[in-house]
Amino acid sequence: MKLPKRVTVCEVGTRDGFQIEPDFIPTERKIEAVNLLSATGMPRIEVTSFVSPKAVPQLKDAEAVMAGIRRRPGTTYSALVPNDKGAVRAVDAGVDDIHTVVSASESHNRANVNMSIAESIVKLKATAAVAHRGGKPVYAGISCSFGCPFEGEVPLAQLESVVSRLADLGARGIGLADTTGMANPAQVTRILEHLMPRFPKVEWTLHTHDTRAMAIPNILAAMEMGVTNFDASIGGLGGCPFAPGASGNVCTEDLVHCLWAMGVETAPGRPLSMTKRGEKMLRLMDRAVTEWHIPVIGKEKGRVIKRLLAKHAPSRGIEVGSLVGYSAILIAGHMPRGGRLTCIENNPYIAKFCQSNANHAGFEGRVKVVVGDALRVLPFLRGPVDFMLLDARKEDYLDYLKAVEARLLKGALIIADNTGIYRRDVKPYLSHVRGGAPYTSREYDFGFDCMEVSVFKG
Ligand code: COA
Ligand code: ZN
Repeated sequence: MKLPKRVTVCEVGTRDGFQIEPDFIPTERKIEAVNLLSATGMPRIEVTSFVSPKAVPQLKDAEAVMAGIRRRPGTTYSALVPNDKGAVRAVDAGVDDIHTVVSASESHNRANVNMSIAESIVKLKATAAVAHRGGKPVYAGISCSFGCPFEGEVPLAQLESVVSRLADLGARGIGLADTTGMANPAQVTRILEHLMPRFPKVEWTLHTHDTRAMAIPNILAAMEMGVTNFDASIGGLGGCPFAPGASGNVCTEDLVHCLWAMGVETAPGRPLSMTKRGEKMLRLMDRAVTEWHIPVIGKEKGRVIKRLLAKHAPSRGIEVGSLVGYSAILIAGHMPRGGRLTCIENNPYIAKFCQSNANHAGFEGRVKVVVGDALRVLPFLRGPVDFMLLDARKEDYLDYLKAVEARLLKGALIIADNTGIYRRDVKPYLSHVRGGAPYTSREYDFGFDCMEVSVFKG
């Protein structure tokens, strides 16, 4: 069996599960559930739905839930929306991704969202426009991709036509949902064999229901076809209130155990973003610096940094002192997708070089180099920070840290380079992160130099 090395699981229990619970789950309990799921390191959580409260009263508190959750860096928080009204609400509530819904079957689409498929597509165009303006990627789910509770079989040509219209409106990913739970592995293979080559740019997801205990076999079939994104639900909760007869989703715990048993990784979940060109540039720079003696982070420290990035999966980073961009490429390439790195470099000539190297590695838009003295620039950078690499003036390390301390997220990773060579200069910094301050800190000793690695405890 040919399996991918790593897959990404999206937890949908708080949406697909909570929407069908007979009793309204209090908002605080929903928030608590999302926070606990975040704490397990789930890479993606579909938190709730921005749908009509008349259609799904169980999720009428979507705004309050989004506002109440604690966001773990590295987790993507999404919500389901059926139309542009939902998209406006979701963007305002600060979701990371928009998940849309339309059915491959006319009768189910009518039952679910009170529209024909064509009317839904019009609404989803408007939805995509709202998402685009808000800078949110759209992932489009297709209910009843493998069969309809009212119509039975759904012709493949009909599914393909829905896929094609969703791809046209710019959906980054498409999720095929087995809403009834009646799919079987042979069917999953046949449908994916048909669709995948026709839409090579689409990132596919399989959303399964376990009505006939076929969810995991169906996931295996999709994995063999190269699909690496799967929805799953804590405790196997879930089901569409407008699809009679279907039972819960595949259970997240079962799926993750099954994947681990087969040696398929599920964490940190989001595929890292290193490019071939980025790898090649790092190798070249490694060679060049040993011959020319240029100060860069280098291979040994690089290995430790990579490991730390994989563990913490930061998404909003700052690098102070960038030089030619070696560490910028290394960091950007090992952040989860969607990660951003701001580099501050004092020397305008070198800063230009750094930016062009990062762009050349394929990280344009992900790495931004700002020219200036970090102590002046840092106070002007907005937003939360969950990663810092300190590498400019050693005697200023503590001031760099203090300039962003108020914006550090809980769990933020701070790496200070050269704390061995410049021991005296970094003394105030070391006593800050090692004693009393809200950090856990440890030293990595490489013999020729040290690196201090601290985690902000909030
Ligand atoms: N969020 C909140 N309210 C919404 C909304 C949204 N996304 N979309 C529409 N509404 C409101 C309208 O403003 C209107 O309000 P009013 O009665 O106070 O004037 C009312 O809902 C009816 O609007 P209309 O456009 O006629 O919608 P509808 O009644 O035909 O319902 C949907 C269409 C799509 C909104 C509704 O069927 C729905 O939300 N379905 C979701 C189903 C679902 O979540 N299924 C499970 C997931 S698979
Ligand atoms: Zn579902």
